[in-house]
Amino acid sequence: MPTLAVLTSGGDAPGMNAAVRAVAKLGAARGMTVLGAELGYEGLIDGRFRPLTMELPDGAGLAAVAEVDDVGGQGGTLLGSARSARFREPGGRAAAAASLRALPDLVGLIVIGGNGSLAGAHALATEHGVPVVGVPASIDNDVGCTGLAIGVDTALNTIVEAVDRIADTARAHRRAFIVEVMGRDCGYLAMASAVASGADGALFREQGRGDAEIVEAVTAAIARAFAPPLSKKRFLVLKSEGVRLPCTKLVREVEARLVARLPGTGIHGVGVRGVVLGHVVRGGRPSYQDRMIAGRLAFGAVGALEKGGTDAMVAWNASREGGTATRDPYVQTFPLAQVLTETEALLDGSSPVTERRVKMMQAVEGALGL
Ligand code: F6P
Repeated sequence: MPTLAVLTSGGDAPGMNAAVRAVAKLGAARGMTVLGAELGYEGLIDGRFRPLTMELPDGAGLAAVAEVDDVGGQGGTLLGSARSARFREPGGRAAAAASLRALPDLVGLIVIGGNGSLAGAHALATEHGVPVVGVPASIDNDVGCTGLAIGVDTALNTIVEAVDRIADTARAHRRAFIVEVMGRDCGYLAMASAVASGADGALFREQGRGDAEIVEAVTAAIARAFAPPLSKKRFLVLKSEGVRLPCTKLVREVEARLVARLPGTGIHGVGVRGVVLGHVVRGGRPSYQDRMIAGRLAFGAVGALEKGGTDAMVAWNASREGGTATRDPYVQTFPLAQVLTETEALLDGSSPVTERRVKMMQAVEGALGL
């Protein structure tokens, strides 16, 4: 019986389980045994697979195991995830390829993960000739060629809800809050959530601001906001993790400068607080959109492998031209080499996508006030 393998790798993202579920159900429906490698590439290296499909009695075919029924609504990943150091070594990749080749009638491997995981998928496909298709999943939205990665929508919903809550207490105390959100090298979460939550400013790595400039900009904006005639009740800044100035240091420095500015400004007792949302943003029940994207990308990935495709990624609402169409008008496939080049450009700021994002943020800078 043809065998399909699937794994989740790198930082988990809400919706990964929905993608695994879709792979299991689609695989079963097409007569494939689906095996999940545990803990990402680690499980692949050690040949640690768990069955995600089972044979039904009386020749009734295959079905996804009952365990996957409800996982689509859960965050995290039932297969477990890891950033595998062993897989970065040629020996680790050779062992992973050997585990795959040992599977009967291998159709291929589906890798669900972010850019590190997709780089691993590319290495596996090119060095060992095993069929691999990637599915982008990372809350950071830093994967090239795809408009969205699985997990981004849920992460944004979580941030916006958290910021609404912070705004309540901020208003009550006439406070300014710096809210830090994840995004190691990409400020998308901070940018998008600042607009959606009606924040007063966004700080992200792609702005290329130095620490002193950031401190001055935030201080000046807070002073303006709380002074008459505006006399705001709250002030919120979304700061991306990629801005290396730590949240606590930013808060301390802004507070110190504000105190020096207060006399004669009409502002009294403005407090500044920092909140680092951290891993809270990575967990939680996936939104409808993430479950829907996950299902449709999985459909595209299974279809691509069935057609003999490899060394490719399925993209949602592609952010660039040149992808190959699939049966789903929103899903295209791109060669992984192109995805990885585009990802680098996205992170170093030379991609038109990053330029557009930054320009759009600059265009609303007046509204955001920083
Ligand atoms: O998956 C991406 C991400 O959430 C980044 O935003 C963050 O910098 C990183 O992972 C954190 O990784 P870890 O969970 O290993 O600390």
